Formats: sequence, structure tokens, C-alpha cells
Amino acid sequence: MALMMNSHGSLGGASLLFMVFHIAIVSSQAAIALSAAKYDVVSLGAKPDGIKDSTQAFVGAWLAACGSEMPATITVPLGRFLVGGATFSGPCKNNAIRWQIEGVITAPADYNVLGNVGTWLLFQQVDGMSISGGVLDGQGAALWACKASGKNCPSGATTIVFSDSRNIAVSRLTSLNSQLFHIVINGCQNMRLQGAKVFASGNSPNTDGVHVQLSSGVTIMNSKIGTGDDCVSIGAGTTNLWIENVACGPGHGISIGSLGKDAVEPGVENVTVKNVVFRGTQNGLRIKSWGRPSSGFAKNILFQHAIMSNVNNPVVIDQNYCPNNINCPGQFSGVKISDVTYQDIHGTSATEVAVKFDCSLKNPCTGIRLEDVKLTYKNDQQPAQASCINAGGLAYGLVQPSSCF
Ligand SMILES: *[C@@H]1O[C@H](CO)[C@@H](O)[C@H](O)[C@H]1NC(C)=O
Repeated sequence: MALMMNSHGSLGGASLLFMVFHIAIVSSQAAIALSAAKYDVVSLGAKPDGIKDSTQAFVGAWLAACGSEMPATITVPLGRFLVGGATFSGPCKNNAIRWQIEGVITAPADYNVLGNVGTWLLFQQVDGMSISGGVLDGQGAALWACKASGKNCPSGATTIVFSDSRNIAVSRLTSLNSQLFHIVINGCQNMRLQGAKVFASGNSPNTDGVHVQLSSGVTIMNSKIGTGDDCVSIGAGTTNLWIENVACGPGHGISIGSLGKDAVEPGVENVTVKNVVFRGTQNGLRIKSWGRPSSGFAKNILFQHAIMSNVNNPVVIDQNYCPNNINCPGQFSGVKISDVTYQDIHGTSATEVAVKFDCSLKNPCTGIRLEDVKLTYKNDQQPAQASCINAGGLAYGLVQPSSCF
């Protein structure tokens, strides 16, 4: 209770009244304690006009919900709510916080306001939370234009980050026009993202749809992602990841990596990507590592049931990533890639080489398995090619282009 009182101290008259009412319920009738406490951001001072800064009301609602000993619901009604950089930290006093969002949460139009803070909306150390609905508008277009003009621009902010958290369910969230990455899952366990819609211009820089790293038990389902970078990027330390029924495009595909940037880094293990569709993307199913020494690895990866439509590199492993040839020329990737299965992959490649395994000389890829793969070039008019460097594996069933192991 003390925490709840403190958190409300700064919120002004309306919320104090609400608090009194709330405490009365909690203390007088234990039976009602089973129902959830409710906090509406508008009754805490937020304005649905898209102009007044509502950051304090959102943070206030969070402090109250997080401090509640019983399950708590935060409601965001219809309207546009301007929210500046906000951090929602746990640990909380309950494991059942629900956000019910009907409205649009918008970032400041002036990208200098978030500037280099890194994250717009940050959740950290939260255990037991759901978010349903809502649109997050990162208003990134002006920053993309600044970057494209070659001017000196701030790096911008990731739209929403879940860090060091567990037991999180996010459903039907829409994230638009992020300045940088849209959704980042970092250091989390048991997190489910479903029915997400993530959209930004196909030429917006570094606007990855969903980035997962250092996390276990993450599920991404039934989502549509189209951005200027990876639809989903899977970083070091990701295990037990499940991606199912995702449509990707425009964008750079679903990518494991870049791995092996650091000399010592945890590996990626047990990743399933199934029922995915790529339209006009730069890559389809990609594994990518830096061409330099590292303890990283990627193993037990299953890519199953994918449709490619005019994809530049439908199936690709690239272990020679070295942007601008800085800090890695002449070196070989230490990342060990093994047991990667491609099963039921169909469609069209926009380039002649539809299957490309360019693995490390020091750590050749092993246990690659191709089964029922049929990729053609230029909408069926020409045969596609496969290319293998330092790659070993087996082909089963129909494989076209025929394997190069
Ligand atoms: C692999 O990950 C899935 C979740 O994506 C999980 O259900 C399964 O138990 C994991 N397998 C192993 C061997 O850990």
C-alpha cells in the first residue's frame, strides 16, 4: 500500500480521489479483492487530443497498477495520446497487470525530443502482464528523412522494449513508423506476441519489426510485418523461439543474426519458423554472422512451410558479414552453424541464386537438411541456382535447384 500512496502523491486531485475510493474497497471488503483494480489514463489526467503530453498519466497508471496487491487493469480509451519517453519498471506487487488499449499512443513529432534516449516505451523487470490492442505511432518519417539527407541526426528510439521480463502476452498490438526497431524482446522468458501488425516504409533505416535476443520461450504468431529492415531479427542468446504464421514484406526477411559480433557471446538454439510468407523482400530465411572469431553458434533450427514471392535471397546463410570491411577483413567467422532444416519451401526468387550457403572456412556449416524445396527464378521462367561454400548436408525429396552439398 505504501508504494501505491507514494506513486499517487504526485498525480494531483483527481487521482487522489480515485485512490481513496480504491483503498476503501480493498480494506473494507476482502471479497472484492479478487476483482481487478482499474486505472484509466484519462481519469489520471491524460488527454486524448494528441497534443497535450500524457506521459505523467501513463506512468502514474503504471505505478498504481504495479503497486496494487491485486490484479490491475490499465485502460487507454479511444483517442490519440502523446507520450514522451516512459519507463514502466517492476518488480510489481501482482503478477496480473492488463493493459487494454483502444487508442493510439503517439511519440513526439519532433524527433529531437526522444533524441538519443534509445527507447520510447520501456518495460523492465515485469513478471505477469498482458497488453491487448492499441496502436503505437513512432512518427519516424521525419527522422528517416533526416538520416537520408546525410545531415547530422540523432539515432532515434526503439518504439517498445521488453527487458528482463517474464510471462508477458501481447496481442493485437499495432506498431507504426518507428524511428528505429519497432518491438524488442531482450532478456525475457515466456513471452507471447500475437496478432501484431508492424509497418514502416520499405526504405526506412533500421526499422526492424521484432528483435529477440537473450531470451527463451518467445512465441510470435499470426502477425503481419513490413518494414525497412528485418521483419524478425534473432540475436545472440535466443533459445526456444517459435515463429508461426507471419507475413513479411517489405523488409529484409526473417534473420538469425547478425551473430558473432562479439568474441564471447551466447548461441542461438531451437528456433522454429513455420507457415511464413515473404513478398518482395530482400531475404527470406537468413542466417548471418560476422566474419570474425566468436564463441557464438546457431543450432537446431527448423524452417518449415515457407512461401517466397519475388524474394532476392530466399534461402541464405552468410557468414562473411563485414560492413564496410572494418574490423574483420581476412578473418573467418567463429560462429558454428549446425542442424538447420529447410522443409517445404516454395516460390520465386528475384535473383538467379535462390539457395546460398556461404559458410565459414574455419567452422563449416554441418547438418543442413533440404527437403521438398522448390524455388524458381523470374516467376518460373528460368531455373534457379544453388551455391555452397563450406556447407555440408543432405537433400531429401524434391529439391530444386538441386542441392550443392
Ligand atoms: C524447443 O522450443 C519449443 C518452443 O519453441 C519448446 O516447446 C521445446 O520444448 C523446445 N525443445 C527443446 C528440446 O528444448
